[in-house]
Amino acid sequence: MMRQAGRYLPEYRATRAKAGSFLDLCYAPALATEVTLQPIRRFGFDAAILFSDILVVPHALGQKVWFVEGEGPRLEPVDLSRLSLEPDRLLARLEPVIETVSRIRAELPEETTLLGFCGAPWTLITYMIAGHGTADQLPARRAALIDPEGMDRLVDVLVNASIDYLTAQLRAGADAVQIFDTWAGVLDDAGFQRLVIEPTKRIVAGLRERVPDARVIGFPKGAGGHLPAYVQETGVDAVGIDWQASLDFARDAVQPLAAVQGNLDPLHLVTGGEALDAAVDRVLNRLGGGRLIFNLGHGITPDGLIDNVARMLARVRGRL
Ligand code: CP3
Repeated sequence: MMRQAGRYLPEYRATRAKAGSFLDLCYAPALATEVTLQPIRRFGFDAAILFSDILVVPHALGQKVWFVEGEGPRLEPVDLSRLSLEPDRLLARLEPVIETVSRIRAELPEETTLLGFCGAPWTLITYMIAGHGTADQLPARRAALIDPEGMDRLVDVLVNASIDYLTAQLRAGADAVQIFDTWAGVLDDAGFQRLVIEPTKRIVAGLRERVPDARVIGFPKGAGGHLPAYVQETGVDAVGIDWQASLDFARDAVQPLAAVQGNLDPLHLVTGGEALDAAVDRVLNRLGGGRLIFNLGHGITPDGLIDNVARMLARVRGRL
């Protein structure tokens, strides 16, 4: 579950209030460790995900980033024609996050997997160029077509930053890393190849040069029919599928290539009941015969109910 440390848990909201701003929480190792462990204590998930955010990378590259309560992230937009990012400062600024990884690993039960993560270059770029979340990612799509050289330079910075950052997470104790490409689905065929597959492939290859047994999960949300090419060309070990994905397609065309992680519609954790049970069964029936990491198809929302999370887990575990 993405955002498993998120706002649906009262203990998260209490720690969050203590920290001050959301970014302060991301950079406070003791508190970030605490909120990572909260859902593990409550539910005993098989894996914990580092508490942080994908936007700490642009922040550590020197871009202004802040979060507006109830609205989401804000950034001072980057100008592709004169990039003034500071890649040399990246790891020094992300040191508190790396310390959080070490602390979590030391405190987690040995059998619980720890996932590190980063945002994929394309998804980071949609925020870095627009300066906020957008419905259609139009500012970044427009920039990619108008200034391809500028876009390539920004992709290069983010590919190298991601390799350094994920390497540091793996060395600090993460067992695997996940690359979140939330807005992969808005690009055309050529754009998907250029801005999703190619940068991700470079990150996976660069990471494995440094950490040969690095295990990587990709999450190209909305990739649909691109999933087999994404898996084959990037070399990820597992791929997250969103809740819109066809389960038959995932079983027949994706699972033979890589483990599949997904894909319950997070809305079921709001609405619950027998529809939730049926949706869990459907994922297990279609994908349970192959390599499957049962998961949501996107992050849990703040109105997700704790009782529904418990019901989902009981259902999945009862079927194992
Ligand atoms: O599961 C976890 O707790 C791991 C930590 C995590 C967060 N964000 C914490 C968070 C992870 C893996 C992310 C990824 C992330 N962040 C993505 C990719 C995955 C996805 O959800 O699509 C993206 C696009 C972001 C950027 C981001 N961060 C947005 C757009 C927002 C605001 C929107 C919203 O839902 O409010 C955030 C805030 C955020 N990141 C919260 C959490 C727990 C809520 C902040 C709060 O407590 O106020």
